[in-house]
Amino acid sequence: MKILVLLLMLTTCAADYQDLTGKMFTFPQEGNKAHVRLNTPKQNFKVVTVCHRSFTDLKRNHGLFSLATPNYFNGFLIYYNYSSREMEPYVRDSRSKYGGLDYKPNVWHSICTTWDSGSGLMQLWFNGQPLTKKYVSSGEISGRPIIILGQEQDSYGGKFDTAQSFVGRMTDVHMWDYVLSACEIQKYMDEENFTPGNVLNWASLDFQIVDRVLIESKQMTCCKKSAPCSAKENIGLI
Ligand SMILES: *[C@@H]1O[C@H](CO)[C@@H](O)[C@H](O)[C@H]1NC(C)=O
Repeated sequence: MKILVLLLMLTTCAADYQDLTGKMFTFPQEGNKAHVRLNTPKQNFKVVTVCHRSFTDLKRNHGLFSLATPNYFNGFLIYYNYSSREMEPYVRDSRSKYGGLDYKPNVWHSICTTWDSGSGLMQLWFNGQPLTKKYVSSGEISGRPIIILGQEQDSYGGKFDTAQSFVGRMTDVHMWDYVLSACEIQKYMDEENFTPGNVLNWASLDFQIVDRVLIESKQMTCCKKSAPCSAKENIGLI
């Protein structure tokens, strides 16, 4: 009996880290269920950088990265507002807006968002371009975070809305508890070696898939031995 309890504890507590290098999540169906939950033991963030690459043809609002805390459902949210054609990052429920972006359908977009509670400023990097810093919120993102891809949280860990769900592909999700240097972000954008996330690391990710989300290879072109593709060609960046 004791051994059984111990085994049960081990299997429920032990984090299961997977290396998703070269892979992507495919969200193939619209709905308010399918999502991936990303786990981290870290909490209480004074500084954040989040990077991801996404690919979609959605013609409506959608969330790209949703981090909720008990106090702020939009604790750290990257959201695309289709009617205003603006990328809207939120920190602690405060919204910032970035317009004039070439957010084309059916191509990969590399997006990094940094925020520092000291200044309260955030900065969006979009496909290699550093955009202007904007004031969004001071103060800590405190409490245990619930981090979700594929759905936008309108409550702490739930209240998903089909009209805000993500359909498409998502890869290379990383999160740091500091602001990455411009050089490191540029390396991420260019698919070169960069310092992986210390909060979320795509190469060592603890996650659960709920409902229909697939893990697929992100190679999208035919690469032959005689004419091998570069890493960028592999994921269709060029
Ligand atoms: C999207 O932007 C429009 C125009 O600025 C605004 O009225 C609307 O509330 C925004 N939608 C969301 C879901 O934030």
